[in-house]
Amino acid sequence: MSDFGEASKGAKMDFARDKSYGDYLGLDKILTVENPLDMAHDGLLFIIQHQTSELWMKLVIHELTAARRAIVAGDLQPAFKMLSRVARIFEQLNSAWDVLRTMTPSEYTAFRPHLGASSGFQSYQYRLIEYLLGNRNGSLTKLHEHTPAPHEALRNEMAQPSLYQVAIDLLADRLGAARLSGDPGQTAWQALPQVQDLWQKVYEDPATHWELYELAEKLVDLEDYFRRWRFNHVTTVERIIGFKRGTGGTSGVAYLRKMLEVELFPELWHVRGAL
Ligand code: HEM
Repeated sequence: MSDFGEASKGAKMDFARDKSYGDYLGLDKILTVENPLDMAHDGLLFIIQHQTSELWMKLVIHELTAARRAIVAGDLQPAFKMLSRVARIFEQLNSAWDVLRTMTPSEYTAFRPHLGASSGFQSYQYRLIEYLLGNRNGSLTKLHEHTPAPHEALRNEMAQPSLYQVAIDLLADRLGAARLSGDPGQTAWQALPQVQDLWQKVYEDPATHWELYELAEKLVDLEDYFRRWRFNHVTTVERIIGFKRGTGGTSGVAYLRKMLEVELFPELWHVRGAL
């Protein structure tokens, strides 16, 4: 018998009664999803790139939801770990653009008409991540009226304070200031000078406020990687479709460039200029 044979001796070979690898992972479902773009060679790349991104987004939502709970409980060490993980997930998604960039405009054109009006613009998980972080545009929930569960998840999210709101509540509590986060809302967080002043106290004396200082840097790190995702997306889009309108109906690159201006945690960026 070969070495390999010896080494694998004892491996369980019969899974008639037990759960196997594929059963645990639901691979029968994941790997047999129909590919509606199979008329073109590059259709599979396009589909898998989106499907894998959505799987990672599912984990992002799981981590951010738990991080928010931990911040509310004042339990910052586990929250830091989760926020770091989210930043690493975005880093991973950023590298994934390198694979998609191998697709040329000619290759994309072979299946683009078959996409109809579908677009990442209608990704409810992406929207949920933005809502969780605090970039809320309530009018976009309309895109999901035809699917009750995502629609409800988005509406429920807007009834809760965002991750940033709970972070600035903690900031105010620990510095003995009045809370400034206001109510949960359907619009994006607007920077408040008083919040920036509180962050400034933290940055001017990290040793005294070490946990808040670490929280601030975890948030900045997360937004940094998120911004890179947006930048990689718009650059890839420009490389593939130029300045054509998006399949989702927006102006395309012009819309995505506008989104580069979003500031998730504005006071944390602005305080830097005040130090
Ligand atoms: C060939 C590749 C791609 C092209 C040409 C493309 C194009 C576009 C365009 C033009 C938009 C603006 C909305 C519209 O009018 O359609 C958009 C939005 C979006 N796309 Fe892509 N995209 C590509 C790949 C991806 C991938 C791999 C993902 C990963 C999930 C993704 C996720 C999104 C999201 C989440 C939005 C909404 C962004 C926002 O509202 O801020 N896209 N895309």
